[in-house]
Amino acid sequence: MVDYHQFDVVVVGAGGAGLMAALYASKGASTAVLSKLYPSRSHTGTAQGGVGAALGNLEEDHPEWHTYDSVKGSDYLGDQDAIEFMCFEAVQAVYELEHYGLPFSRTPDGKIAQRPFGGHTNNVTGKPVTRACYAADRTGHMILQTLYQQCIKNHVQFFDEYQVLDLIVVNGAAAGVVALRLLTGELHVFHAKSVIFATGGHGRVWEITSNAYAYTGDGLAISLRRGLPAEDPEFFQFHPTGIFKLGILITEGVRGEGGVLINDQGERFMPRYAPTVKDLASRDVVSRSMYLEMREGRGIGGKRFLYLDMRPETVNKYAAIDGRKRPNGQPYSTTAEELLSKLPDIVDFSRTYLGIDPVSQPLPVQPTAHYTMGGIPTNKFGQVVIDEASTVMPGFYAAGEVACVSVHGANRLGTNSLLDLIVFGKHAGLQAAEYARGADFQALPADAADFARQQLDQILNSTGTEKVLDIDHEMKSVMFEDVGVFRTEESMQRALAKLEELKQRHRHIQVRDRGKIFNTEVINIWELGNLLDVATVVTNAALARKESRGGHAREDFPKRDDAGWLKHTLAWMQPGGVRLSYKPVTITKFQPKERVY
Ligand code: FUM
Repeated sequence: MVDYHQFDVVVVGAGGAGLMAALYASKGASTAVLSKLYPSRSHTGTAQGGVGAALGNLEEDHPEWHTYDSVKGSDYLGDQDAIEFMCFEAVQAVYELEHYGLPFSRTPDGKIAQRPFGGHTNNVTGKPVTRACYAADRTGHMILQTLYQQCIKNHVQFFDEYQVLDLIVVNGAAAGVVALRLLTGELHVFHAKSVIFATGGHGRVWEITSNAYAYTGDGLAISLRRGLPAEDPEFFQFHPTGIFKLGILITEGVRGEGGVLINDQGERFMPRYAPTVKDLASRDVVSRSMYLEMREGRGIGGKRFLYLDMRPETVNKYAAIDGRKRPNGQPYSTTAEELLSKLPDIVDFSRTYLGIDPVSQPLPVQPTAHYTMGGIPTNKFGQVVIDEASTVMPGFYAAGEVACVSVHGANRLGTNSLLDLIVFGKHAGLQAAEYARGADFQALPADAADFARQQLDQILNSTGTEKVLDIDHEMKSVMFEDVGVFRTEESMQRALAKLEELKQRHRHIQVRDRGKIFNTEVINIWELGNLLDVATVVTNAALARKESRGGHAREDFPKRDDAGWLKHTLAWMQPGGVRLSYKPVTITKFQPKERVY
């Protein structure tokens, strides 16, 4: 028995992109949001340091500078037309959030507060600029709450704890989704004119990650199974400062407020790697520098972590050495009280998870798998495009981390994730509603729910003895070691062999709970299948790309190769393996050059 629903627009995912898309779609179309979680638990809520927009509230800044920094940060793989579009929309988008009631932190004269962040620069001096608009270190949380309230006000209909398992495609167009209601174990068909995927990324592929348990690549895996490509899957960002072993994010805002990275010799090492912006270089540069420090034996106590030091005396010492000034021209110095008020969650996390007070002790940190740059290919209006010629798939949209517009290219600029959510979430919502106004519902096939049911039956009928946790652990470990910050042909071949073995074993997992109500065991097994599929696509694309660029650092091909590889990957999951193809990068104003920070 399958329950049936009909909406003009169905949004899958209730993070920032999904909520923004739903809000805009609901202005012109009946709109439903399906979420595997309760919406305010979505991963957007963990985003800390800020949303990027050149408001210029504290010092001179321009959307053009933001555009250039994003292009440079992307290691020139981002599509420059889309990046420019996003950075110019940013200012209005942030004011829109303010008008919805988002409680931003404030400057003394009442404007939205801004702080420096990695890779954000004054394009004239090359020095850091205050561009990250923040609500303490809870910016994502505030965006989520604010947008959820707006959606409720706008009568968006929410289906919480519905796990979407499949996209329904009729005559090459999206026609709805199939979802499992976790409470009852029943399948539901949502018939729609437009479907928007805003399902987030897949950081749970890796062992040390800042990503929530829910970040299992569901949307990308579903669309790969429906024959659509992934764009640039080889590019995944490691954030420099995750809590050692746990991976929990310690915002770049700590370094924005003057915190520095320190090695075992007590040295602030980033000036050796990035003499101008130092600890505020782009994330790929900082994460690689940390790895090199640790590899050369300068991890703390020879271990795989370094210190992030935000003690006021350290901050003030290096601010004086750097000649750092406040935007009003006064020398920069801070106090424990100021840090506590600007970074309350970081202080709280450090106390809770480490038993450390970060204003009196340095924090042990290591790079943590953080952000999916690649994803379902879209244009800048959120329309999914399915081939080298960027042919639009009718009725199907994607936004946020599951999508690849591509505005992040090979490495995302910090704070551009929240910006991406609100800008492209909005446009996906507008486009989806517009399309729905001019389209009829497609007739659904009688077997619309069959593929979803087959996937669940395959899990439930397994008679094997494999354990989901073993397979999950082995996947995470091999991906972290062999397809992590650094990669080689040999390491990736090893990872691929392991992934093939794990995919076989995944078919033989022992299921102990065969019940219907909240069967999280079955869902975990299904999610692990998504992660294994996505990891295989990631690794195949990474193996093929014989250069180093942004988050893809190959020790056997250490240089960027614009002549051979300034192009986007498209990767299809096919019965015989992963098929790869390529499409050009859009370059408008900024010719690729060497990145110096
Ligand atoms: O460091 C952070 O607060 C993370 C921000 C981001 O990923 O953009």
